[in-house]
Amino acid sequence: MSHATIDHRRSAQRIREDVETLAGAQFTLSSEAIRRYAYTDVYRATLDYFTSAWQELGFTVTEDPVGNLVARNRPPGEAVFGVGSHCDSNRNGGKWDGTLGVVCALEVCRASAELGLDLPLQAISFLEEEGSGFGQMVLGSRIVAGRLSEEELREGIRAIDDGRPFWEHATQAGYEPERFRECAHILDDLTGWIELHIEQARVLQDTGRRLGVVRAIAGYVHGDITVQGRADHAGATPMDMRLDSAVVAAQTILELERLALAAGSGTVGTVGEIEVSPGLINAIPGRTRISLDVRGPEDDLVHQVVSDIDEFAQGAAADRGLTASYGQRQTVPATPLDDRVVAALEAAARDTGEPFTTMISGAAHDTMCVAERVPSAMVFVPCRDGLSHTPEEDADPNDAAVAVQVMLGAIEALTAQRAAV
Ligand code: GLV
Ligand code: MN
Ligand code: MN
Repeated sequence: MSHATIDHRRSAQRIREDVETLAGAQFTLSSEAIRRYAYTDVYRATLDYFTSAWQELGFTVTEDPVGNLVARNRPPGEAVFGVGSHCDSNRNGGKWDGTLGVVCALEVCRASAELGLDLPLQAISFLEEEGSGFGQMVLGSRIVAGRLSEEELREGIRAIDDGRPFWEHATQAGYEPERFRECAHILDDLTGWIELHIEQARVLQDTGRRLGVVRAIAGYVHGDITVQGRADHAGATPMDMRLDSAVVAAQTILELERLALAAGSGTVGTVGEIEVSPGLINAIPGRTRISLDVRGPEDDLVHQVVSDIDEFAQGAAADRGLTASYGQRQTVPATPLDDRVVAALEAAARDTGEPFTTMISGAAHDTMCVAERVPSAMVFVPCRDGLSHTPEEDADPNDAAVAVQVMLGAIEALTAQRAAV
């Protein structure tokens, strides 16, 4: 099938302008990084920016009861194809992670209008993908997917900044968390879904590809191990009389590396947070908490690593007279994506003549929560040296414009196939 062709230069220019604008001072809490998360003024300003842009195209823009943004060019009840990502950022983030996906969703809508295609489209910008506000990744899309209980939203999930519950923050920002179950409806009319994102690894760059078509997303477990010992004086307490929780935590970190390597098949394990208490140079750490991030394309291996590290930490603690306990924060299973959407993206990518590859995502995405109900896939564009979750993040709007072309081609083909049935 031959597809309508976008004006590549114009699209790249608009993508660059949107991304650069959203890196401005009014859209970030930090002058050193892009830091924005749910219910802050800078996040509100970002949603307002996208709302105006979609309204200019004649789209109707709404927000669901917790603040996922929805823009569509067909009335409720009519079939639409979904595009989007998230526009919150890692606390020490860059301009591209998530934001590029929403900007390119907007560009798909602009190009569809300009080319006279008038494709039936619905864009979504999901709330809190990064967990920067509440320590919980893919929060907005998990609410949409019905994966969170009222209890978790009312009590369990709390803001990193002030410890108050998600529920309170959402209410204060003018939302209606008591209607959270209705968020599921934002997927009701979707016949398909495509999310564009930076790759967050260096496979595309190092193999000279401009595009990745994603056919599956690795699953993950997030949790914490807390080691409890005794906080004694660092000078006065002899080495054989200590209950040093940091030593057990250190053993556990090394064991996690060993377990993930031994599990193989792309399993990875990371300790990204270490909290030592009381956290003083002259005190033995009485309590140490380490976070666990274990991921991989094979759920069994991921869960085995988590259960083995839990057992290891308890054993290592007991050997020294301490205790250790594990608590899970959340888990999302590995997600295979839809063969037809993947094939449509591959066909549209071939049509561009640009080098691309079909791949698995090691990073988590909102698409994991959409895919359960809607045939979904993703498109990756290269990011410089694979960097993400840092202000150093960089990507090329020209690659993003190629990806917009590919998304548009795939949506055109899938929408036409559907009309022909
Ligand atoms: C999402 O940002 C992730 O860490 O996978
Ligand atoms: Mn992201
Ligand atoms: Mn991210």
